[in-house]
Amino acid sequence: MLPLTYIQTAEELLETALKRVQHNSQIFGNQFPNYSDTAEYNLNENNNWVAGFWTGMLWLSYAQTKDAGVRDCAINLLPSFERRLDENIHINHDMGFLFMLSARAQLALADDAEAADLTMRAADVLLGRFRPKGNYIQAWGPVGEDRRGGQMIMDTMMNLPLLFWASQHTGDLSYAEIALTHAKTMAKYNIRPDGSTYHTYFFDQETGNPLRGETHQGAADESMWARGQAWGICGYAMAAQWAAKSDDVALADQRQSFIDTARQLAQKFMAELPDDGVPPWDFWLPDGWPNHRDSSAGSIALVGMLRLIEVDPDNAAEYKAYAQRLFDGLAEHCWDTRPDAQGLLLHGASHVPKRLWMDSYLIYGDFFMLEALLMLTGNHVDLWVTG
Ligand code: GLY
Repeated sequence: MLPLTYIQTAEELLETALKRVQHNSQIFGNQFPNYSDTAEYNLNENNNWVAGFWTGMLWLSYAQTKDAGVRDCAINLLPSFERRLDENIHINHDMGFLFMLSARAQLALADDAEAADLTMRAADVLLGRFRPKGNYIQAWGPVGEDRRGGQMIMDTMMNLPLLFWASQHTGDLSYAEIALTHAKTMAKYNIRPDGSTYHTYFFDQETGNPLRGETHQGAADESMWARGQAWGICGYAMAAQWAAKSDDVALADQRQSFIDTARQLAQKFMAELPDDGVPPWDFWLPDGWPNHRDSSAGSIALVGMLRLIEVDPDNAAEYKAYAQRLFDGLAEHCWDTRPDAQGLLLHGASHVPKRLWMDSYLIYGDFFMLEALLMLTGNHVDLWVTG
């Protein structure tokens, strides 16, 4: 059991979070919240990697409250996801973030069979980004593009549930096999011996030979970008959860190695975490870089710890202690207490090297905080690991 005060706080925060989502659903219309350094979110069209987090928050909230207005808001947004595929609007590896939290959620929670076809279209796009020379899923840019054709990134671990789901849905194991292959490649190259991670890693596209680790959103190639590390914890924990329920022998056999990887990343994250429980945007900042926090790394890592409690019960006490530190840090230092707040977490850092939204609401930080609150209070409907 988790300590009672911890659960009481989570229940109170969950009530506030659900009210904010319900209120926002009435005013955001067909726009998507992204970031903000005020109490009001900036709204975008559906044209970037974060759009699914808002529909995901709507579906998580609907599963809890059964509020028809919240459900209809999510349903009304789905055509804009279809348009993303039809018109090739910012299409890359982020298919899981976009479509597991919109189309697949709509299939599950509104019993919309057509949404399954759309989810499968997204899965096929992701599958098509697999590079057999090198055995990785290409993150960004057109497949085979000069530089980015050789690049994989840690964030892709979060998109693999779409491939695991596609295998479950169709019975075609090739989707899960590609996910499995990518996860193994990533564990081999992106994770350093001390459990820290490279954000991205490059291959020679002609030979498939591994070349080098590089950062994209961290402070330096050899630094430890906090959100990348958090994506890894949560991504490998989910891969372990999918493996735990798979009939496929090759996937099921990887369960323990995915747990071991997630645990190694989790232990490193917690060893580097400051005493206040809130991650800096990069754990190893070279001189001269701004010293921002990243609450989104905290909420993503928190969900990762809660998933590890489920999939690795032998080590649950360790993960519970990690989860409590992260939760306390977010609740005490990042939760937005303003009565007119639209968001949940202050102090997210989106892209510090580009000086973008460095002390801000971030919709993905809020999505994972809501998911964590639902998990902590025993109300979780899992949009990522299904069936
Ligand atoms: N996947 C992009 C990011 O974490 O900012």
